[in-house]
Amino acid sequence: MGLKIYLDGKLVPEEEARVSVFDHGLLYGDGVFEGIRSYNGRIFKLDEHLDRLYASAQAIMLDIPLSKEDLTAAVINTVRANQIRDGYIRLVVTRGVGDLGLDPRKALKPSIFIIADKITLYPEEYYINGLEVVTVATRRNLPEAINPCIKSLNYLNNILAKIEANIAGVLEAIMLNAEGFVAECTGDNIFIIRDRALITPPTYLGALEGITRDTVMQLARKMDYPVKEDPFTRYDLYTASECFLTGTAAEVVPVIKIDSREIGDGRPGPITRKLMEAFHQLTQTTGTAVYYSV
Ligand SMILES: Cc1ncc(COP(=O)(O)O)c(C=O)c1O
Repeated sequence: MGLKIYLDGKLVPEEEARVSVFDHGLLYGDGVFEGIRSYNGRIFKLDEHLDRLYASAQAIMLDIPLSKEDLTAAVINTVRANQIRDGYIRLVVTRGVGDLGLDPRKALKPSIFIIADKITLYPEEYYINGLEVVTVATRRNLPEAINPCIKSLNYLNNILAKIEANIAGVLEAIMLNAEGFVAECTGDNIFIIRDRALITPPTYLGALEGITRDTVMQLARKMDYPVKEDPFTRYDLYTASECFLTGTAAEVVPVIKIDSREIGDGRPGPITRKLMEAFHQLTQTTGTAVYYSV
């Protein structure tokens, strides 16, 4: 069965879900988006995702033509219409149809679409054995140019780094900022563990304020692990006792090798494994209910 897509106020069959070639989201990457998960009939951290979407839109002066309440309802209805229980939701707001110039004032009406689909999970072996990653030459966007806190449709910086990861034969790339401090990965945030403490780069160095990142920081504090947002370098990656990545799609995934250096004993660390378990528990027990009885 084909999907039903929410497009500007209507649920339409996927074949009919089309945006114009004049949409500035397509022509210029001018728009914002969210990737959201549903687990067991509940949408995880929906409020937080919508808050971030509106914040990104505010930063690029894009007026989302729906209230947060109506957008919440649109997301829930789309998931329900596709009978998704464990799924992935892509919520996109584009600048809309304009002319061929890049002036956003010519695009009069932003477009909203929502895709709710089944999720393709990462292979289980990465969670059991851990992931090998590399640092890449492509630097994360300068916050003064395109702030990585804005979750915009312009992902070319991340794609260039992903191409480097592909060439290296690994799944993710760690991106440094212009000064050489670790920023984040192409679609994930990064944590290292040193002396029981979790350390993640502050977002002002050039990282998205990841919702999984925030969730993991809260879980770690509850479990009495110190949590710090501190700058660190490649040296700190190589000498960490543990390392893991966080993201809506990846959840919490252990890293066991970086630039051919084994991290810790080369296996997923004990604190990472505890956090993976705690995160999993949370996804199964919280979230916005989609169906009347879950
Ligand atoms: C560049 C980037 N960093 C980090 C993340 C992780 O953020 P979240 O945990 O909100 O999915 C994502 C994914 O959304 C991303 O695209």
